Amino acid sequence: MRAVDLIRKKRDSGEHSREEIGFLISGYTRGEIPDYQMAAWLMAAWIRGLNRSELASLTESMLYSGEVLDLSRIPGKKVDKHSTGGVGDKTSLILAPIVAAGGLTVPMISGRGLGHTGGTLDKLESIPGFNVNLSLEEFRNVLRDCGLGLIGQTAEIAPADKKIYALRDATSTVENIGLICASIMSKKLAEGIDALVLDVKTGSGAFMKREEDSIRLAELMVETGKRMGKKVVALITDMNQPLGRMAGHSNEVIECTEVLNGGGPADLRELSLELSAWMFFLGERTKSVDEGRVLAQSLIASGHAMERFRHCIRVQGGDDHFVEKPQLLPRARSRLDVLSSASGFISATNCEQFGIALATLGGGREKKEDTIDHAVGLEFHKRIGDRVEKREPLVTIHYNSGAKLAEAQRLIVASYEIGEVAPSERLPLIRRIIGA
Ligand code: URA
Repeated sequence: MRAVDLIRKKRDSGEHSREEIGFLISGYTRGEIPDYQMAAWLMAAWIRGLNRSELASLTESMLYSGEVLDLSRIPGKKVDKHSTGGVGDKTSLILAPIVAAGGLTVPMISGRGLGHTGGTLDKLESIPGFNVNLSLEEFRNVLRDCGLGLIGQTAEIAPADKKIYALRDATSTVENIGLICASIMSKKLAEGIDALVLDVKTGSGAFMKREEDSIRLAELMVETGKRMGKKVVALITDMNQPLGRMAGHSNEVIECTEVLNGGGPADLRELSLELSAWMFFLGERTKSVDEGRVLAQSLIASGHAMERFRHCIRVQGGDDHFVEKPQLLPRARSRLDVLSSASGFISATNCEQFGIALATLGGGREKKEDTIDHAVGLEFHKRIGDRVEKREPLVTIHYNSGAKLAEAQRLIVASYEIGEVAPSERLPLIRRIIGA
């Protein structure tokens, strides 16, 4: 078999066999198929699509490109959550300590920023000393010790996804239902979990802009997970505007501590509680989702969730004192307010452009080798439906270099639609539940 023939086959809308997909994935993981051929195949697959059986083969090949974690010696249920990604989407850092404080184990293996969206690993690395690169043995010890662990893909866990994920980011082959499903489910199924809650974003800041595509993606992932014997549910949630008030790594970590301290923005709190509640329910810790929500609230109010977060940071080598002293996290040197050009009501935002503006300032990657500036960020002052006056700040940019400031500012200004009348309805944050 030759990669070049498989690229041509997909380019010409052919259907791959299980063996062909296995050949591509194992060859690429071992370094026998170069980046440029994999990139060409990904683009062909992006354009031509993958059918159900190709997708099952892709997920399976990626899952078994490495080890499937055996957590059977850790007592109790293991539950995780995964989001398809958005702007300001930081719920993992909130719900993982809540759910661990409630008695379940959360073995969270996360990714880095992808396209215009932020990644949990990059956010964690803004915490001085925090080590996301644990060996699997160290990971198991952390899970035993504090009930949660937050790491990146090791060489052992779905290594194919690790390589392909970075390549997709740099070749504009992210927004594809089949590729997203295989990427997420291969690494999540390798975690040795009993149950998984998926947060499938929809709207202008999501990879899936149309709700029907988000629903298809959710159904595909739920079906894949159930086929592998896991309890899986997907929440379709709004990403037509950033989640919370902050985007950018340090700023998002600080916002998470606000929620764990009982405050924080209402939308971020609501979604974090809802996802935690589903994790409690699927992990059989509570008899209903409602009971799970009450438990999550009580763990925040008692301080147990925050204590668990701090414990996990210490165990993974980080300095948890930033919780009292946020200045210990990387902070940007300068700030600039982006002002509204008109008076009226915010009727919509092009949320993806906020993520691109953040990346432009250094808070995201253009090439897979790029390093990230954890200090830069965007602070959002207005939400859809809010009244805004001319020259009132819409966003405060936290930046270090002025080089691309004007470009970021232009992207942000162009992202707001301001109308004369308030939008007649506000879209709910949680649109629907798939697989319940
Ligand atoms: N998150 C992932 O882990 N993979 C994708 O492809 C998209 C979002």
